[in-house]
Amino acid sequence: MEILVINGVNLNMLGIRQPEIYGKESYGDLVHFITKSALELDIFVDCYQSNLEGEIVTKIQKAYKNYDGIIINAGAYTHTSIAILDALKAVNLPCVEVHLSDINNREDFRKFSYISLYANKIIVGKGFAGYRDGLIFLKNLLNN
Ligand code: DQA
Repeated sequence: MEILVINGVNLNMLGIRQPEIYGKESYGDLVHFITKSALELDIFVDCYQSNLEGEIVTKIQKAYKNYDGIIINAGAYTHTSIAILDALKAVNLPCVEVHLSDINNREDFRKFSYISLYANKIIVGKGFAGYRDGLIFLKNLLNN
């Protein structure tokens, strides 16, 4: 079982950006956490981060026939990107949408997510643990 984890715009700034919202741990710490969780769950995982919408679209397109599922935190593109939504629909892979913060209890503009129109599951407000929960969800889905 091979899962692609995509982190979008500004998530490389974890630990620096608004630590009161996103925590003090870095993007490197997040990758370490996801890799360790995947190992424990016997899942092969690739972590990818980009600040560019088109690069994220290309990465999703390349996931076709190469991965069994996608976990995505698109950052602010969550709320704006029809292109990322269309790419997810195109490859038609099981998908978990993750947000470190609880986007439903912040500014109104964060309440709408294009990714949610496709995702099989949406996990918000659980910090790093949300990614592990996403891996567990996909493992259960793909084993059934
Ligand atoms: C985020 C929430 C988004 O609204 C924001 O733009 C981000 C991070 C989160 O993980 O909580 O960049 O996706």
